[in-house]
Amino acid sequence: MLVSGTGTNLQALLDTVHGREAEIVAVASSVAHAPALARARERGVPTRVFARAEHPDRHARDRAMADWLQQRAARLVVLAGYMELLGEPFLERFDRAVVNVHPSLLPAFPGLRAIEQALAYGVKVFGVTVHFVDAGVDSGPVILQRALELPAAREPREVLDALRPLEHSLLPDAVRLFAAHALAPDPHNPRRIVIDPGAAAIQQ
Ligand code: GAR
Repeated sequence: MLVSGTGTNLQALLDTVHGREAEIVAVASSVAHAPALARARERGVPTRVFARAEHPDRHARDRAMADWLQQRAARLVVLAGYMELLGEPFLERFDRAVVNVHPSLLPAFPGLRAIEQALAYGVKVFGVTVHFVDAGVDSGPVILQRALELPAAREPREVLDALRPLEHSLLPDAVRLFAAHALAPDPHNPRRIVIDPGAAAIQQ
């Protein structure tokens, strides 16, 4: 898993799929002292910081991080509040096996401060997307999405608080589906991820 911040999504995975349908084998952070690291350590999951400043460039950092994750036999890389872009070489090493959780209904409001963007636009429906990661900004194929009507919302905090339970349910569901080999691109439209109907029970 890759993190940069608080780690509530990491915690949701530690509390649900970890040790059951999947094993969290490593947590890498772009930020030293990210609270997410303590959550991982508490459960005995190996952690390491890959700060941009400690590497000659972004690709060198990505390479070191990919090496470390592959040494730990990671099969899926989950971005849970990881606030950096990953380059093509990293993505090629984890081909179709990098997923991200984002606090908007993509393709609306990609990038940083998605909730602030949505509030500034004046939308009345917010939401969460879990998607495969490609080289663009929050532009990869959608795995799961859930919407939430908040017609009177004004403050980012209240939207984030309302979206948290959605994130904490969708991300574990996506990991379960990946672990069950239940996600495949639609042959007619590879941007469309088809969920094996036999795995419908996995989604809560
Ligand atoms: C989550 O809201 C996640 O959707 C968002 O960062 C937060 C991390 O929270 N990610 C992005 O905005 C990615 N573009 P957490 O550290 O408590 O899991």
